[in-house]
Amino acid sequence: MFDVTIAGDINLDLILYGIDRSMPLEREIIASDFQMTLGGSAAIVAHNLAALGSSVGFIGKLGTDDLGEIALQRLNHIGVDTRCCIRHEGSTQTGVTVLLHHGTNRHILTYLGTMAEMSVNDLDLNYLSNSKHFHVSSFFLQKNLQRSLPDLCRELRHRGLTVSLDTNDDPDDRWGDEFRTMLSCVDILLPNEEEAKKMARKDNVTEAVNWLSEQVPIVVVKRGSRGALLKTRDLFFEIPPLTASPVDTIGAGDSFNAGFLSQFVKGQGLEDCVATGNATAALSTLRPGGTEAFRDREFMQSFLSTSLSGEIR
Ligand SMILES: Nc1ncnc2c1ncn2[C@@H]1O[C@H](COP(=O)(O)OP(=O)(O)O)[C@@H](O)[C@H]1O
Ligand SMILES: [Mg+2]
Repeated sequence: MFDVTIAGDINLDLILYGIDRSMPLEREIIASDFQMTLGGSAAIVAHNLAALGSSVGFIGKLGTDDLGEIALQRLNHIGVDTRCCIRHEGSTQTGVTVLLHHGTNRHILTYLGTMAEMSVNDLDLNYLSNSKHFHVSSFFLQKNLQRSLPDLCRELRHRGLTVSLDTNDDPDDRWGDEFRTMLSCVDILLPNEEEAKKMARKDNVTEAVNWLSEQVPIVVVKRGSRGALLKTRDLFFEIPPLTASPVDTIGAGDSFNAGFLSQFVKGQGLEDCVATGNATAALSTLRPGGTEAFRDREFMQSFLSTSLSGEIR
């Protein structure tokens, strides 16, 4: 039995650092550094959960191309179970994200590829339900799966799993009904601050969190360099972030989710879950992309044992 099962996006992130924001057309623009890391919000959560010691089953759709192979290897190598992943034989390639890093902010360019083609027919329900918890990432990128997700989550909850959702951004900026239906189907919602406001259609975070916590039992809002807050019907707290000098913040939200869920499935208190989320998110910012800091086991252990007094074993 798994601790967490996840169905969602997997691709590689190609990150170019040191690119000026004003990018003139028809000129050769030289990056100061380049990294290729595992990407896809769902894949980053799966990878980092496994690095933190949870048992994880992951279903994603990849092409038969080389980039798909590398992405899958990264999950296998850290111990994620990928036996139900699908290698799509058609002409569509594995998705890819190109990130242009401008110091404090970035351009994010994504080709969805096979990640948008995964449908409910690609998912083995018995495999997904053989777990304590099910996590959904990148709701809006799952073009083919989106409409089936509410029923899938309801069924998994019916079978005894808890369910979490991190939608990430809506590229169309609609936050429409198909998303709103999901709110009644999950136990934990994990947006960042901007996403929380858009979800609730409110201008300030407090109002947004109040509204969201009437829809979802546990609302956790990630607040970048201000840490995170959690609200349930009768509990509210904020936890400041750890001090970090980020290389980049790519995958920080996903790494937060991994830390939070690694404790949640152990039955730890919600304050521990958020504190661990802050720590694993800060850890993620110290190395390129969302997974590099977790691939270096010694570095991860040493950072977390210092910041959490040995809560992660
Ligand atoms: N500069 C930073 N210093 C320390 N922690 C950070 C920093 N930026 C982000 N984090 C951590 O990463 C988490 C997620 O970041 P955030 O940007 O809010 O989410 P997302 O990546 O989903 O947009 C935050 O809640 C915080 O714990
Ligand atoms: Mg996010």
